[in-house]
Amino acid sequence: MKTDVLLGVQWGDEGKGKVVDVLTPGYDVIARFQGGPNAGHTIEFDQKKFILHTIPSGIFYPEKTNVIGNGVIIDPFILKKEIEQLNAEGIDPEQNLLISKKTHLILPSHRLLDAVYETSKGKQKIGSTLKGIGPTYTDKVARLGIRVGEINDTAFKEKYDKLKERHFRIIASYPYDIKAFRIDGLDFETYEAQWFDALATLKKIKQIDSEHFINRQMESGKSVLAEGAQGTMLDIDFGSYPFVTSSNTICAGVCSGLGIAPSKVGRVFGIFKAYCTRVGSGPFPTELDDDDGLKMRDAGHEYGSTTGRPRRCGWLDLVALKYAIMLNGITDLVMTKGDVLSGFEKLKVCTAYQINGKTIDHYPFESDLAKPVYHEMEGWNTPIDHIRNAEDIPNALADYIRFIENETGVKISIVSLGPDRKQTIMI
Ligand code: GDP
Ligand code: IMO
Ligand code: MG
Repeated sequence: MKTDVLLGVQWGDEGKGKVVDVLTPGYDVIARFQGGPNAGHTIEFDQKKFILHTIPSGIFYPEKTNVIGNGVIIDPFILKKEIEQLNAEGIDPEQNLLISKKTHLILPSHRLLDAVYETSKGKQKIGSTLKGIGPTYTDKVARLGIRVGEINDTAFKEKYDKLKERHFRIIASYPYDIKAFRIDGLDFETYEAQWFDALATLKKIKQIDSEHFINRQMESGKSVLAEGAQGTMLDIDFGSYPFVTSSNTICAGVCSGLGIAPSKVGRVFGIFKAYCTRVGSGPFPTELDDDDGLKMRDAGHEYGSTTGRPRRCGWLDLVALKYAIMLNGITDLVMTKGDVLSGFEKLKVCTAYQINGKTIDHYPFESDLAKPVYHEMEGWNTPIDHIRNAEDIPNALADYIRFIENETGVKISIVSLGPDRKQTIMI
């Protein structure tokens, strides 16, 4: 069998966690392939709400295997907290979570570096989640990183100290009082001590050669779903650089982040919100600085799952969406949060950009200069979060869906109309 993929085709927070959880019953293995605890994936069912940062969203089904792939980076301190929260609800990830020996570790000093780099950028800051993502991937590529498979080695502490010293030498070249920096509210020494304590939790998770594991699963007829983090417009190569994350969030990341050959990739689900949001800095052509934007933020509870920051909101951008469909080879679209648009009399959808008076229909290098060209549509003036069947979708929403399908040439296979598992329509 081939591996299916679900990934974000906007700027993250499209509802990946919710929809992976909904699709999990149809798969044997759920695997994360990139990113780290900068991700915040929300899952709601039975009046309970969970936010996962590192663990795949298939964890709520004890009979399903969850894999943290080699392309992911992991902070033992954050993983420990995540596991404890699941344990409190009777879920035991030790039973069905596996981790690649090649997964890189986020060190406390990576987080310090992240904070120093952001501070030094001033107004140009990226708006990083400050989880140490950039510095950890930098060390991976520089061939300086430390991997999960090394945590039991006798040389581990020596390697840790060497890398930490290197980070402190870099930090010393900045004019900051390092004692003033906090990591998750803690001073460096306290955080570091807790990070080392957390290694004990990490050691309890079974380490595997995940590329062999996943390929053997596929050969034996088991089905695999790869779960993306962030979104295509935050991709290190194709996002609005430098306002991006430090990994390949696109489908190609599945191949390098799990060891799956391109010919083994099956369906690719591209998930998007019925409008757009972005958290952090960077170009956002359809951003709304008016009451409509505030209305979306309020109705959609658009505050970051990882950092709590308010998300910037704007109309659906089909130029960016088509770009993401091209880069990922999307076979199926998934639309979330249509319920949030209930009550807007008119809706706008961006179908082209204007740059210096010229109209273009492709996502450009100069996305910071793009001004949106809108197509206006009728809204649906009724609540829709209770709808469970495609036949009950109001005409205006059906028109909205058809318009997106016609413009992109891709079918919308799943419509989500609320945060709960049950608020999902398979079309
Ligand atoms: P992810 O990072 O892609 O997993 O998305 P997040 O969990 O960061 O953000 C999505 C937010 O929207 C979460 O609070 C979800 O519970 C919520 N959500 C997901 N789908 C829907 C939907 O269809 N309607 C509404 N109203 N909320 C949704
Ligand atoms: P999920 O998986 C939304 C954004 C940050 C910042 C930029 C770089 O929940 O969709 P980083 O911490 O990676 O150095 O931040 O990327 N960002 C996200 N935005 N959802 C995410 O993940 C994100 N992960 C990172 O806000 O602008
Ligand atoms: Mg999120």
